[in-house]
Amino acid sequence: MKKILVTGGLGYIGSHTVVELQNSGFEVIIIDNLSNSSLNVLEGITSITKKPPVFERLDLRIKADVIDFFQRHENIAGVIHFAASKAVGESVAQPLYYYENNISTLIYLLQECKAHSINNFIFSSSCTVYGEPDSLPITEEAPVKKATSPYGNTKQISEEILEDTCSVHPQFRCIALRYFNPIGAHDSAMIGELPVGVPQNLVPFITQTAAGVRKELAIFGNDYNTSDGSCIRDYIHVVDLAKAHVVALERLLKKANASNFEIFNVGTGKGTSVLEIVEAFEAVSELKLPYRIVERRPGDVVSVYADTTKANEILEWKAERSLKDALSSAWKWEQHIRNL
Ligand code: NAD
Ligand code: UFG
Repeated sequence: MKKILVTGGLGYIGSHTVVELQNSGFEVIIIDNLSNSSLNVLEGITSITKKPPVFERLDLRIKADVIDFFQRHENIAGVIHFAASKAVGESVAQPLYYYENNISTLIYLLQECKAHSINNFIFSSSCTVYGEPDSLPITEEAPVKKATSPYGNTKQISEEILEDTCSVHPQFRCIALRYFNPIGAHDSAMIGELPVGVPQNLVPFITQTAAGVRKELAIFGNDYNTSDGSCIRDYIHVVDLAKAHVVALERLLKKANASNFEIFNVGTGKGTSVLEIVEAFEAVSELKLPYRIVERRPGDVVSVYADTTKANEILEWKAERSLKDALSSAWKWEQHIRNL
């Protein structure tokens, strides 16, 4: 059994990926500092896979602890690095925190990978690196635009750090996955998204509104140049996204990669507007969602969805779950955590 380190493995995407890794026969070690997750997630994972992953509560910003961790754990075959802070607005208010948490942690990990000859690395990037695209759907060749937030900049800088590292260490192999908008939860409703405080993202806000935790959804603008005036995104089921990590990891472990730094878009290839999401949610939940249209949210990209040809053909991966599946799993998860 190959041993894989998953940083941020108790977070939203990390926990779903741990499940898929365990189900694919990998042994998983999780590092998480619980800054945006809780130990209950470990129980959720275990209840699905029946195999408790090894867990270490560790803060990757503490270099000495990262060094110590790799001294204690031998034979790690690969690393999937999710741990980071991800709130765009918070990153504008606290840039140094974001640069430290998202960049220094990557550097410490890469230093230890080099020291221990761990040569397979998957990185969580984001479609945010494309900014407002010039054409749609977006391919991996589209230019990386100047970031509009410190958070987005950390993803751009991280990709550059990885590319520079790969260029001088030919034995080191990295895949950066540029995620579009992950939504939904595991079908079992044992794990899902757990936003702290008021959700900033659309789907958790919708499910909390439906659960009665929020009064109404505010839709940020209906006067954009789109079919119905609301913004368009590529919403991908988190389980499909998790599976993409397993496929990418297997590619690296087999040394099947075409170059030692590869980038793949991970989305569905389909753009959906905010109003279409509301409509689809109402259909799956059989509820009427209270909402009102408000001002545009500063910094929002109008329309973004992926060209997934590269991942489809090279990784032989394709998003399989529908928007309906994703929204009904998100709603099932919200009902589970609210005891509805
Ligand atoms: P999340 O916050 O749910 O998970 C991140 C996990 O990392 C959390 O459990 C947190 O406690 C942990 N963590 C943070 N800093 C740490 C540190 N210094 N040491 C140890 N653990 C630490 O976020 P997520 O949605 O699962 O995102 C995972 C990754 O994917 C992040 O890198 C994020 O930037 C990226 N991403 C997310 C989205 C999205 O919409 N969710 C989109 C694109 C990219
Ligand atoms: N929206 C609303 N009301 C809300 C929340 C969101 O109308 O209460 C709208 C937004 O204006 C946007 C769409 O719903 O048009 C999606 O917004 P999200 O905040 O859910 O997602 P974003 O596309 O803005 O950003 C997300 C992550 C970023 C990441 C980016 C690309 O939050 O961290 O996807 O991966 F960088």
